[in-house]
Amino acid sequence: MTEQNTDNFTKKAESFYKRTIRSFVVRGGRMTEGQQKAYDNNWKHYGLNHQDGLLNYKAIFGREADIVVEIGFGMGTSLIEMAKNAPEKDFIGIEVHPPGVAKLMMMAAEQDLKNIRVYCHDAIEVMQDCIPPASISCLQLFFPDPWHKKKHNKRRIVQTGFATKVASLLQDGGVFHMATDWEPYAEHMLEVMEQHEAYNNAAGEKQFHPRPEWRPLTKFEQRGEKLGHGVWDLIYLKKGVS
Ligand SMILES: C[S@@+](CC[C@H](N)C(=O)[O-])C[C@H]1O[C@@H](n2cnc3c(N)ncnc32)[C@H](O)[C@@H]1O
Repeated sequence: MTEQNTDNFTKKAESFYKRTIRSFVVRGGRMTEGQQKAYDNNWKHYGLNHQDGLLNYKAIFGREADIVVEIGFGMGTSLIEMAKNAPEKDFIGIEVHPPGVAKLMMMAAEQDLKNIRVYCHDAIEVMQDCIPPASISCLQLFFPDPWHKKKHNKRRIVQTGFATKVASLLQDGGVFHMATDWEPYAEHMLEVMEQHEAYNNAAGEKQFHPRPEWRPLTKFEQRGEKLGHGVWDLIYLKKGVS
């Protein structure tokens, strides 16, 4: 990708963020006093704050390694498994649902994982303000809220502006991996990604990717499986400088 293209990307990505439509609804669910205490203790080690701005990976993880970011990890079981299975990589999870964040931190602490940190914040703002450009090797988005109704489709997180922002954060050759169990959303993702100038489809033009066996089953996926839903993976590689 040329420097001019990179500049255009940045401009387009910035305009995307002047938005009010959110991809999530804030769900209730108060924590008990005990849960809150555990949350606060674990947060000291695993929590990242949006207001602290741009990340310094070396300061956080004490090393330089591939950085994998996951948006909307839910209860975090599959992200924890991936972090455990790849100790050579560092993982950053972003989720707005506090009980999920609490669960992920609890599991990370139980297993003494050193290669994972978490934001409890809107991923769109974290991407905008905290992730340095061209700094991550993979962006994972597994089973994003499907927003089934036509009038809600605009709330789907995968849109052209979002894909542009992801491209600006990925290193050349970096991976944007999505999965969904809602076929119309899978088709929408394919349409957005196929027309995007920043990516190549790892499975070949207009193809969904076979489910990689290294992707652990997520909680949401498990629920879908029981209901007989299919699953569609999409894996795109950011084009390099040409
Ligand atoms: C359908 S759930 C899937 C959870 C998990 N990936 C799984 O497969 O079990 C989607 C998750 O994305 C989170 N989410 C949606 N928009 C988000 C955003 N802008 N920033 C962070 N998390 C978000 C929601 O809170 C929810 O937990």
